Amino acid sequence: MDCAEIATNSRPLKGIVLAGGRGTRLMPATLPISKQLLPVYDKPMIYYPLSTLMLTGIRDILLIATPEDLPRFKRLLGEGQQWGIRIQYAVQDQPLGLAHAFIVAEDFIDGQRSALVLGDNIHYGANFSSMLCKASEFEKGMVIFAYRVSDPQRYGVIEFTDNFEILSIEEKPMRPKSNYAVTGLYFVDEQAPRMARELKPSQRGELEICDLQNWYLRQNALTMKVMDRGSAWLDTGTYDSMMDSALFVQTLERRQGIKIACPEEIAFRKGWISRSELIALAKEIWNSPYGEYLNNVASEFA
Ligand code: TTP
Repeated sequence: MDCAEIATNSRPLKGIVLAGGRGTRLMPATLPISKQLLPVYDKPMIYYPLSTLMLTGIRDILLIATPEDLPRFKRLLGEGQQWGIRIQYAVQDQPLGLAHAFIVAEDFIDGQRSALVLGDNIHYGANFSSMLCKASEFEKGMVIFAYRVSDPQRYGVIEFTDNFEILSIEEKPMRPKSNYAVTGLYFVDEQAPRMARELKPSQRGELEICDLQNWYLRQNALTMKVMDRGSAWLDTGTYDSMMDSALFVQTLERRQGIKIACPEEIAFRKGWISRSELIALAKEIWNSPYGEYLNNVASEFA
């Protein structure tokens, strides 16, 4: 049984990937195509957040994109059955903010708990999968992930006690109260869509995820998990951070001979697709190192 299905009496978490936005910081590359379809080293950016959900054991996923890019995501990912998952799609006409995702996804969420991941975020770490699995066992409230950064003023910043009790969350503060940023992965209970509807747009006209976090905090229902120092959280929203991420992935993959965020491999190792299905996927992209890698994974289990 998968981690997202155990321990609670509730139904498994539903997954949402938010892959809209304007990508203004990556223009002109993002003029004809969504940022999340650009490659980060050897695979499209969207594979990374999708893998994060899959590692949590989530198989029922909604991908939110702009009307222009949605057909391109469909062409790449289809309905997900090739990876043993189900992908549905929804349009966000305007980038109305991260919390707006819960409104777009309301029907899909259908009164259940869900996990939202940002389409341009990479989470990676040796213990990260087990942390995700444990975190997904929450029953009520919102769970966020904290990562130590050297430049907290660029992010949502968490102030917390030695017991990991959250005192405040501030969006891009001039004087950050800690070095811990909120990453782009949020687990929420069934109240999120209703609460997102009650939020007021910020000065930049968006429904801010930090306002949703603060609502849960006021209810005493916001918890955090700290990613350990051996893990990585990278966002790929600028040319430099994209390049840093690509080099990070390249370095680890070449050194270890394993792939980071390979959905086919995750699906296979979780038993969601068979060995012959994995080999068939490898065949489709046989002339690339990625295809060769899939074959190697399949041979390990021959
Ligand atoms: P951002 O990086 O904040 O925004 P962006 O992608 O539009 O880029 P830029 O700031 O360069 O203009 O968004 C983080 C992620 O969330 C990214 O994957 C895009 C997505 N997003 C949406 O899908 N809808 C939204 O309304 C917003 C604000 C972001």
